[in-house]
Amino acid sequence: MEKFRRIGVLTSGGDAPGMNAAIRAVTRTAIAHGVEVMGIYRGYSGLIDGDIKQLGIRDVSNCINHGGTMLYSDRCPEFKTEEGMAKAVATCKRLEIDGIVAIGGDGTFRGATDLTAHGIPCVGLPGTIDNDITSTDLSIGFDTAMNTVIEMVDRLRDTCESHARCNVVEVMGRDAGDIALRSGIASGATAVAIPEIPFDADGTIEKIKRSKALGKRNFIIIVSEGCGHEFGPSFTERIERETGVESRFARLAHVVRGGTPNLADRLLSSLMGVYAVEQLLMGKSNIVICSRQGKIVSTEINYALALDRMYKNKLKPGDLDPFTEGQVAEMRAFCEKKRQDLAALYAKVDLLGL
Ligand code: ADP
Ligand code: F6P
Repeated sequence: MEKFRRIGVLTSGGDAPGMNAAIRAVTRTAIAHGVEVMGIYRGYSGLIDGDIKQLGIRDVSNCINHGGTMLYSDRCPEFKTEEGMAKAVATCKRLEIDGIVAIGGDGTFRGATDLTAHGIPCVGLPGTIDNDITSTDLSIGFDTAMNTVIEMVDRLRDTCESHARCNVVEVMGRDAGDIALRSGIASGATAVAIPEIPFDADGTIEKIKRSKALGKRNFIIIVSEGCGHEFGPSFTERIERETGVESRFARLAHVVRGGTPNLADRLLSSLMGVYAVEQLLMGKSNIVICSRQGKIVSTEINYALALDRMYKNKLKPGDLDPFTEGQVAEMRAFCEKKRQDLAALYAKVDLLGL
């Protein structure tokens, strides 16, 4: 087994609360094993440019409680090119970086798997508020983001109640409705629109009319950004026109991505960071660290990426070729269960948001 002397850690793609706790855990675990840690700034851009500094135990002090990422983040198209990859590999060789923990989303994992194929073993940590990485139940930043949403929606609800209004609230999540759905239930939304399930706009209008007739004064509709513009300002105007309830539209946007990470995210990041380094030092690579039913486990990145495409109906010809029939059946069952769980959760909005 290869002996690791020095590893790198980077954050890439959209930042997420808890990334600092993950950087801290990776750094301290590696150092505890006698391995040096290099902090790679601005994601894969820093790997290409050599924007890298050694991290000691004290360099990651006082960051567990901060949002954003102390290593900064970037989207780096150059890394997808052969020249960019060659520069990144050359940096690793020059600085004697034997392995990398890459914290980010599925794009980051694609980069990590390419880098592994070029001889630099990588382990991925799921860091994104969107919770759109199919292989893990939870990603770093998701819980904090949802808590921020409910805090913001509680404020909107106060003023809606005073003025007898409806507020349509758009929340981030890219193509995934997880943030919208769970924070919608937790904030007592009348309706939630997510990209995965058709939204009953007519039914929502009727529901508002019925509840208004029964004396309800405030109405919250949570819309995931992945639904596009269909249920944004124009839908807000339609609600006002057809129900007679004065309506406002609010887009929470990046507000949801910042802020102090909560306990759940600090704990998840810490445990995943420790596990990532332990796996790397045990000689495992090209894996993504996942949380499954409360347990920290690992999955092959290529398996995780194929599973992700299957769940999102984005499979391309040949994507499943590397896998056995048994693995493909396992993936299908996993996706089916995940879809059923989502539908069951979605049904609760209608039941409770009266
Ligand atoms: P996320 O990791 O949150 O999904 P992005 O999709 O923006 O965010 O990906 C982050 C970075 O990962 C990109 O800017 C790029 O440097 C790298 N990356 C994304 N996709 C690929 C790919 N197919 N091959 C190699 N690197 C990639
Ligand atoms: O992936 C995290 C995320 O915040 C998504 O929820 C959102 O769609 C996207 O990133 C926004 O990207 P940007 O920061 O480039 O505006």
